[in-house]
Amino acid sequence: MKAFLLSVFYLLIVGHETKVFDACELFYLLRSYGMDSSTWTGLHQFVCLATFASNLTTNYFTSEGDHPYYGLFRLNGAKWCSNGKQASKNKCSIACDKFLDEDIKDDTECVKKVIGDKEIVSSKQFSEWPLYEKHCGVEAITIIALRCVMFFPMSEWFQQLLKKKKENPLHIKVHK
Ligand SMILES: *[C@@H]1O[C@H](CO)[C@@H](O)[C@H](O)[C@H]1NC(C)=O
Repeated sequence: MKAFLLSVFYLLIVGHETKVFDACELFYLLRSYGMDSSTWTGLHQFVCLATFASNLTTNYFTSEGDHPYYGLFRLNGAKWCSNGKQASKNKCSIACDKFLDEDIKDDTECVKKVIGDKEIVSSKQFSEWPLYEKHCGVEAITIIALRCVMFFPMSEWFQQLLKKKKENPLHIKVHK
């Protein structure tokens, strides 16, 4: 038992941390990061994006031709971040590796920049991601919204979030 706990501890500290989100868990986490705090209208769109960009996986990486793509939102390393290996506009002023860890706050800040730091009014704001257009039509995003707004609040995870929010409204930290 002790050895088991030690190895779990070791994995937590040393292991390459990755996290696969539940869609609605991501929905409320993005909300807590102010992705769409006033209207909630864009949250399901970002969740749909992450679903098809990375299968909701924080350490997702792929490379297509000269373009490496990083993290949950599949951000283009030749444009939004720098990997130190190739020229990049680095518009989000960040090292690409930062998009691969479990902390998605920086990923989220960069996505806001891609979208144009405004409320989502048109799917054109997602033109950076051709896969969005392909997969995230009205039907797909409506299903996500219904699931996350109507059904997910009954889940245990959500109840814990509410409890934590009450205890400490400014610091929501999500543990799985
Ligand atoms: C996500 O998983 C599905 C099913 O395993 C797979 O077909 C798809 O290519 C994956 N998407 C990405 C972006 O890796």
